[in-house]
Amino acid sequence: MDIDAVTIFPDYFAPLQLSLIGKAQENGILDIAIHDLREFTDDNHHSVDDTPYGGGAGMVMKAEVWGEALDPLMTPNSDLIILTPAGRIFDQRMAEELANSSHLIFACGRYEGIDARVGEYYSQESFAEQGIKVREVSIGNYVLGGGEVAALVMIEAITRLLPGVIGNPDSLVEESHVEDGFLEYPNYTKPQTWRGMAVPEILLSGNHAAIAKWRSHIAATRAGG
Ligand code: ADE
Repeated sequence: MDIDAVTIFPDYFAPLQLSLIGKAQENGILDIAIHDLREFTDDNHHSVDDTPYGGGAGMVMKAEVWGEALDPLMTPNSDLIILTPAGRIFDQRMAEELANSSHLIFACGRYEGIDARVGEYYSQESFAEQGIKVREVSIGNYVLGGGEVAALVMIEAITRLLPGVIGNPDSLVEESHVEDGFLEYPNYTKPQTWRGMAVPEILLSGNHAAIAKWRSHIAATRAGG
């Protein structure tokens, strides 16, 4: 999978060198490129924002700069993800859908967001015909300083679903039982008793069918089912 992210703070993406995602890049499963939006400005001040038409507080990111940055990244079947608190809420289902994409482009807005024409422009028929899809996505109902952290969250949730990224793919199979909410049960490891607290007896029984039943009962109860 190819991933591009456009941002005015490329350093935010340093954690992508770590852990499983770092390894997946070394193994060639993932190719991640971070682009500095300011390199696509054409004025001496490298300005990326301007005051909003109609007035109001804050600044809006300029469509021209975003257009220059995004044009060269667009290829057939690209998925353009515009991070905004006004977008559709990201969840496991969307992660699974996006894990099937061959190319994700994350547009990380700051300030009051990106000029609305950018999303509209790449949503036009001529792009849709090439399989290019635009989505506005939020990672939750709260306002972040910008889309960078949101992009990191999405990249982690999506890329761990790619074949070869996670050491033990069995953990993905268990997660795939999730339809709504998360099917998770409590986990325990040694010692059997810690500070007077014992591990549930059934987990020591060796009866795998009974353990599976107990786990799914607990998980369903937790999920409110
Ligand atoms: N930018 C600011 N807040 C955001 C959020 N909650 N999700 C995605 N992008 C954002």
